[in-house]
Order: sequence, then structure tokens, then C-alpha cells
Amino acid sequence: MKRFFLLLSAALLLLPAIGYSAPKNKKKDTHTVVAIPTVEAQVIAVETEGVQWLFHVDKAGVLRCYHFGKRIADPGQFLEFSGTRTRHGAEKYGDAAMAWPTVGGRYNNEPALHVKYADGSHNTELYYTGHEVSVADDVTTTTIFLKDYVTALEVALVYQAWQKENVIVSHSEIKNGGKKSVELLEYASSFMPVKADKYLLTHFWGHWGSEMSVDHELLGHDKKVIETRIGVSATKLNNPSFLLSLDTEAYNERYGEVIAGALAWSGNFKLCFDRTISQLNICAGINPYASAYKLAAGETFTTPDMIWTWSGNGAGQASRNLHAWARVNGVYGGEKINPTLLNSWEGAYFNFNAATLISMIDDAAAMGLEMFVLDDGWFGNGEYARNNDRAGLGDWELNTQKLPEGIDYIASHAHEKGLKFGIWIEPEMVNPKSNLANAHPDWVVRSPGREIYTGRNQWLLDLSNPAVQDFVFGVFDRTMQLSDKIDYIKWDCNRVVNSFGSDWQKDQDRFFVEYVQGYYKVLRRVREKYPEVIIQCCSSGGSRVDYGQLAYHNEVWTSDNTDAICRSRIQYGTSLIYPASIMGCHVSAVPNHQSGAITPLKFRFDMACAGRLGMELQPKDLSDSERDLADRCIKSYKQYRDLVFNGDLYRLVAPEEGRYALMYVSQDKRRAVVYGFNLSYESREIFRTLHLDGLNPDLRYKVNELNVDKSCWWGNGKTFTGDFLMNGGFNPYLYKTYSSAIFYLEAE
Ligand code: GLA
Repeated sequence: MKRFFLLLSAALLLLPAIGYSAPKNKKKDTHTVVAIPTVEAQVIAVETEGVQWLFHVDKAGVLRCYHFGKRIADPGQFLEFSGTRTRHGAEKYGDAAMAWPTVGGRYNNEPALHVKYADGSHNTELYYTGHEVSVADDVTTTTIFLKDYVTALEVALVYQAWQKENVIVSHSEIKNGGKKSVELLEYASSFMPVKADKYLLTHFWGHWGSEMSVDHELLGHDKKVIETRIGVSATKLNNPSFLLSLDTEAYNERYGEVIAGALAWSGNFKLCFDRTISQLNICAGINPYASAYKLAAGETFTTPDMIWTWSGNGAGQASRNLHAWARVNGVYGGEKINPTLLNSWEGAYFNFNAATLISMIDDAAAMGLEMFVLDDGWFGNGEYARNNDRAGLGDWELNTQKLPEGIDYIASHAHEKGLKFGIWIEPEMVNPKSNLANAHPDWVVRSPGREIYTGRNQWLLDLSNPAVQDFVFGVFDRTMQLSDKIDYIKWDCNRVVNSFGSDWQKDQDRFFVEYVQGYYKVLRRVREKYPEVIIQCCSSGGSRVDYGQLAYHNEVWTSDNTDAICRSRIQYGTSLIYPASIMGCHVSAVPNHQSGAITPLKFRFDMACAGRLGMELQPKDLSDSERDLADRCIKSYKQYRDLVFNGDLYRLVAPEEGRYALMYVSQDKRRAVVYGFNLSYESREIFRTLHLDGLNPDLRYKVNELNVDKSCWWGNGKTFTGDFLMNGGFNPYLYKTYSSAIFYLEAE
């Protein structure tokens, strides 16, 4: 010990020699800590008829979240609740149930907000300053205001509680209250801490032709991020939505707690699941990838909506909540029934003239379909005629060589035959081989000095540029002027963003965000002028399926893959988040143009009848008996389709089981339609007994199989109680591969 002190004094004596000297005039410490006003502790309950999201403001003004789930009577009891041992640095480890964590203070986990200030600082600490509640019909809106007292940054957290639907829609508004501009490096829409022992995440992946494939994944103690960076066609590989089953390792349609979420954004998104020692922090919003967003002094950035629901009765109820909300708010014209149709694409591709289309219209009318849609190939002239996918996009004038009679001639014929008329456009795109590309190279998304990559021989127009927004709106508007009988537009979008760059943007970081905002601006203009037209959102099939665009569209083209076997998986996956009313489902020819599979026409019809039914083939290629079956299926579909559009969906068996079964039940539970499909042969195993769902156990239902002369069920034509059908012996004999059946149930 003595030796140690001797060494220490020697070292101190040496200090000046090795460069250290005590400051002569000690610098005055100007650091003053800004005082945070204390507030009254309180509980803020955002609640619907069955779901509650509880916030807790402590005396220091910190906003926490202790509950999202079943509605608890008297939530004020949470006032004394202590969630974590915060004095041991729970924020630091992400376990303090922070309702809106930021980079700064003691929090070091995935933040909802990350701001970089003009002085280079990254610290934000938000405190509660007040909240307000407003009620309008079914919706209660709660806005919670937070502020950083040092930087004057303000955040408003907005929660819309849809009472009957049990859905809570939330977003954030970030205001730069300071005097200098700031940069938003993360700017989530919504953040939710959840506490359970196990978290089973169900999310969606895929590609062209396999959209909305389902993955179930038990979350470990690490960060799971689901995101896209491809800008447009943003849901090609992942969807901005999920289901989270709590305290279980197995997905279940009927039992257990499930939280579901979907982000209403058609561009780059990021869903982060950050599991800490005692909770899971879910953070959802725009992906800040290459999109640090500069916010000028006084400016506010409004993030997109995140849609949440909770179910205590498994995933099925979570989906039904989302569907119910989608019908009244999430989907444009969500409660309307969209017409059955014949689309020209797989039946004619680019090879048609007026005679081809007229004969397709006649056949569609004869089969009882309600609309004809003229797909790609009707525009472009001369060297840029759209006779294949290599030219013409951008030149939206009628192809006078192919259709000298004009669009109005075709549309009028459809109307005379009692059909509506629809037409295809892809207004955000341009082929290098087009007059538009020659006239406006500055409108193309490109990076100076670099090759502009093509995707399906086309370039992307820079929709962040207001001049391009005007052009795109003009394409829609001019197309509508081609005839006053256009009832439906199929708006396509067939590529993603590569080597992004905008000639127009001064700040390239704004490109991804402003592209999507520009897209919505155009759609708002379209809807102001054309509130009645039915618009389908297509993007190489289902590469743009989200609640952002659905606010303006009536439906989506679910997938280019029309193979009924693949469709069972795609439609099943889509149904977990989105209602059947939006799913365009078409019967196409065999061998299937995508997969080569040969399935029976009945199987193809039954699968397509589980969504918005359509056909996409040359009707002339059908035999007489096939035509008869088509007539029959279309006719019966019209009798029960109100259940598909506005009924409640119950999924009975998932396609991964080799069988697929589902049903839709009317709101009053008096009518239902049940679908069963055998996807793969299981030796002598017949279709195992189905437990129907959602019926009234006490009602007696008459069961009728549709579109067959001989039923595959022994009980066909008879009457059974809901109790028997839900718990007893509904076992249609569907044992051969690709056998299928549709049953219609009506209470006596
Ligand atoms: C995309 C769509 C198809 C069809 C073609 C036309 O692939 O998804 O349905 O409209 O474009 O080129």
C-alpha cells in the first residue's frame, strides 16, 4: 500500500512534464438544466366496445403504456400501477413500457422517433403537455400532446377508436417548434409495448405470383424487422401487416389473444419487433431508408395511419375486426358489391381488334357476367404502338390502327349488352420507346450519369414531381373522356424503384416519401372528380396491397397467378388482413398460363367465387358443357355474393393442410356459404369433418350444394341445427385431388 502512494505522488509530480497543466482561468460552466413542469398523474383510456389501449402519465410527465387488449372496466385503477423497476434503468433496457420512446434520455432501444438537431445533437425527451378527446358517431379520437422542453419539438399522438369494429387507428404528427430545421431519422406512425411470455408472429412474404404467403415465427430475444425498400410495388415481397398471437407457439383461428396491425402506406415501410427482457416493443411506420426527412422551423410531418385490433378469440376474430373496419372506412366504397367481369388479358393479350372485343363482350353477356374490361394494348401509335410490352407506355392515345372504331364504340356495345365497361391504364410508367420518354426525360426516375435500369422494359415516372402528378391525373382524366360509358379503371404499376433520383427534388432524401404522397394527391384529385368510377389497384398482381391505396380503390388484382391451387394460398393469406370484397379472383384457362397446372373448371370457379368473381380467358375456347357450368356458377354466385362482400369470414382449414375450407356468414347469422377444396390427395382419407363456425347453434339451416346434379354430402337438401353443423358431422366427400364444393345454408 505504501509503495502505491509513493508511485502515485511520483506520477503527479511528473504530470506537467507529460503535457498536462491545470487551467489558469477555469472556464465557466454554462450548462443549465431546463426544468420540466410536473403534471398530475393520470390514466388516459383509448377504448372501443371491446378493446382498450391504456396510457399512463406519471408526475414527471412521462407517457407510458401498460395495456392493449380486452377492455377493462374502471381503468383508473392503473393510476397506481408500477410496471417496472425504473430506478434500475428500465428505460435503458427498453422495459419501461414507454408509449413513445425517442433517441435520448435513458432510452437506447428501437425508438419511435429519432431527431437530429441543427447543433448535431440527437437527444429528444418528450413530456406530456395535455390531451383532448372528440367524439363523432362511431369514432372517438384522442390526441395526446408531448413536448421536448429543450428543443421545442412537439409530437401529437392521434388515436381513433372505432367503437363497433374494435379497431384503433393511430398516427403521429411531429412539429418542429424550434427556430432551425431538424432532420427526422426515424418517424414511426405508432408504437406499442406488449407483455407476454411468448410471441408468435404471423407475417406475409412472397413475390410475383405468390403474394401474401404466410409465415409463422416464434420471436426470440432479438429484433425482427419486416420492411421494404423497393419504393413502389411495395408489397411484392412483404406486406405492411401482421398478426401477433400471445402466449402460444401455435397459430389458432378460434382461441387465444391476437393483436393485428396494418400500416396504411403504399411505399417503403418498416415494422420492427424488438423483444427486450420483459416485453415486445412494436414500432410501425415509414421506412426511413434513404429518407432522412428535413423539417423546417414551424413545419409538421404527419405520418400514415397504423390500424390495430385485438382479439380474445383467435386470429379469425382479429381478421373479422379488420374486415368490418375496412368495409366502413378502410376501402373506398367498401360496402358496395363490385360487378363480375370478363377481363381481356389472358384471353387476348395484345392481339385484338374491335371484332375480338365485341365477341368477348357478347359471350360475357351471354354467360351472365356484368362487366367487360379491356386490358393492356389499346394505345400507342406508329413505331410506339403497344403491340407488346416493349413500347407505348406513356403515349395514352387510342391505337387507331388496332381500334379505328374508338373506345366509345366498344364501351357502347358493352352497355347495349347490359354490361359495364372498364379499361386498363398504367399511368406512372413510361417505355423508353415512347413519345413521352423522348419529350420528358426529366420526368424519369434516374440517377445522374448512371444507366436507367428497365423492369418489364419500362421506366418509372417521378411522381414526387408536381408536373408528373398533373400528367398522371391527366392520363386518368383523358382516358375517362374516351367514352362517357367508362365505369371501371384498372390502374396498374409494374415495376419497383431502382437507382433512385429525381431531377425535380432539391433534396433527394424526400423522394421515397413524396412519391407516395404524390400518388395519394393524384388519387384524391381522381376521387373528387370521379367518385363513382370503380378503380382496381393492380401492381403485377398484388404488389400494392395496403390500406393506404385502398382508401381510394374499390378492389385489387390479388395476383397475376390465376392457378386455383396457388390462389388458395394467396387468397387465404390476403384474407388474414384484407376483406374478400377487395379480392379480384378470375377463372382462367388450362393449362394455367402461369403454372401450367390443369385443374377442373368447377374447382377454378369455386375458388374464384370466394372473392369478387371474374373470368380471364377467351370464352370461345370453352366447350358447351363448360359454358353451361360457367352460366350456373355465375348465376348462383350472384345469389350469395352479398355474403362474400359483407358477411363475416370464418376460415375453417388452412391450405397448408392440403385442404382448404372457409365460410361467410351473414350479419344476422341466417345465411351462410361454405367452400371446401381438396388440394392434394391423401390416399383413402376423405375430407375430414368440418366444424362450421359463426352460425347460430339454435337455428335450423337448410343445406344445399350449389352447381352440381349430385351432391358430395349425404346431408344435402336436409336441415340441421347450427349446433350440429358447428360441432357435429359436416363431412362432404371431397377426397379426390381438386374436388371442391360450395354449400349454401339458409335458416328456416
Ligand atoms: C400486369 C397485370 C396484368 C395485366 C398486365 C398487362 O402484369 O398484373 O393483370 O394487366 O400487366 O400488361
